[in-house]
Amino acid sequence: MATLPIDSRLSAGTAGFITQTHRMLIDGRFVAAASGKTFPVYNPATAEVIAHVPEAEAEDVERAVRAARRAFDDGPWPRMTPSARGRMLWKLADLLEENLEEFAELESIDNGKPLTVARAADVPLAIDMFRYMAGWATKITGSTLSLSFPGDFHAYTLREPIGVVAQVIPWNFPLLMAAWKVAPALAAGCCVILKLAEQTPLSGLRLAELIHQAAFPEGVVNVLTGYGEGAGAPLAAHEAVDKIAFTGSNEVGRLIVKAAAGNLKKVTLELGGKSPAVIFPDADMDRAIAGAASAIFFNHGQCCCAGSRLFVHQQVFDKVLDGVSQIASKIKLAPGLDPACEMGPLVSEEQFHRVTSYIQSGIDQGAQIAVGGRSGAERGYFVQPTVLIKTNPRMKVVSEEIFGPVVCAEPFNDDDLDRIARLANDSIYGLAASVWTRDVSIAHKMARRIRSGTVWVNCHNVFDASLPFGGYKQSGWGREMGEEVIQNYTEVKSVTVAL
Ligand code: NAI
Ligand code: MG
Repeated sequence: MATLPIDSRLSAGTAGFITQTHRMLIDGRFVAAASGKTFPVYNPATAEVIAHVPEAEAEDVERAVRAARRAFDDGPWPRMTPSARGRMLWKLADLLEENLEEFAELESIDNGKPLTVARAADVPLAIDMFRYMAGWATKITGSTLSLSFPGDFHAYTLREPIGVVAQVIPWNFPLLMAAWKVAPALAAGCCVILKLAEQTPLSGLRLAELIHQAAFPEGVVNVLTGYGEGAGAPLAAHEAVDKIAFTGSNEVGRLIVKAAAGNLKKVTLELGGKSPAVIFPDADMDRAIAGAASAIFFNHGQCCCAGSRLFVHQQVFDKVLDGVSQIASKIKLAPGLDPACEMGPLVSEEQFHRVTSYIQSGIDQGAQIAVGGRSGAERGYFVQPTVLIKTNPRMKVVSEEIFGPVVCAEPFNDDDLDRIARLANDSIYGLAASVWTRDVSIAHKMARRIRSGTVWVNCHNVFDASLPFGGYKQSGWGREMGEEVIQNYTEVKSVTVAL
């Protein structure tokens, strides 16, 4: 496999990792798929195959679930002191930090995102997540309760780990999504089977090496590479899995819910979005324009919370449209490892076709392109940052998640906050929103009226390990991060003692 084309800008260490024979982590050992099958990994900037990874199927899932089950039912992890569990998570964070540059390179070549972004955002946020959740390990508590039932009782609750957890993640922030999932589950004392996205398995496989190096007990974390149907579906259906946590499309979210019905395992879902950015005429215009552009163009629009519907007050619509279009037209498209890169390719050929056909459907339904609209290079999966105008809520580009650098800009000519909020809320999704205004009162009133799990004021895409993140409506079930996520990895037990 040393003959595969590897970008010469990669460090020797990263190139060495990519070209090694890849194995999955099951029961504390690195193993090939039971079938011996592998599948290719692509560099989306060139469409070239850069590696092959094991293709897990039902038999591998079975081995991983059995390992996690043993680790949870009989192993040391759930019985360890919370402090010891916290220290293990902190150690993993330290190892990630020592290898920050390698992880940034892996994210860039595998997903396509700029190296500079992976270095400044993806990897540090993943490290923070492990450290933040390391802190939670010692702070999971129940409560004492005063009963009115006749008699004399001492009653309290225990918060206990939910058990064996399957986690299925997407490709848009490969390492960060792994951290969002694995860190809280481990802090709570759960054991994990993590299935990486087939498009972007490299950083998760490197994380598996660090998990091994940190000496987590066998079977506590198992890391699988494989396709959704082959490896994700048997995990979702498995009778010995207590909970599944999923991030990805609504279509697959529904399949997960159906598969989970067999043993009624717990389910959390972080699904799609069609997040509004609403700009009021009194907003700081420079900030709002730069913010609206970055709301949609950050990570090439491949964010579930991308600000893909831009609502701008009529008074400032032309100014904002002009500003966002200018920013879009100047964004430098290049391979993620190119130091000049401001936007890399989309993650895959499938995603490239998906996004470009959405743009075409917008045109077919009567939208106009203010800027962009074309593929951005001769090879690789590049799509130009695109602004669509003259859109309406009946168009697919407005109602459906595109998951690419495409924003629909619409003016509103209204000062009634209820009606403006109705525009913003006109979606099956409710993941996030941003409001741009200098008026404190408008800001907080809009924050209450918008039906979504996150509302940003005068900012967008601000993430922190302490901020719960997740969806209203069809954007999902449950929350990631913050104290809330701990609840999604624990069960509550009521203990009542007659005195
Ligand atoms: P997807 O939902 O098919 O894939 C996400 C994960 O689910 C991957 O690990 C995949 O292997 C797994 N999966 C697929 N089918 C499965 C099944 N039957 N059972 C269990 N696991 C399964 O998403 P895909 O195809 O990568 O992207 C399609 C669209 O989904 C995107 O265009 C975007 O709209 C949305 N999406 C949303 C994300 C989010 O952050 N909410 C992330 C990725 C995609
Ligand atoms: Mg899919």
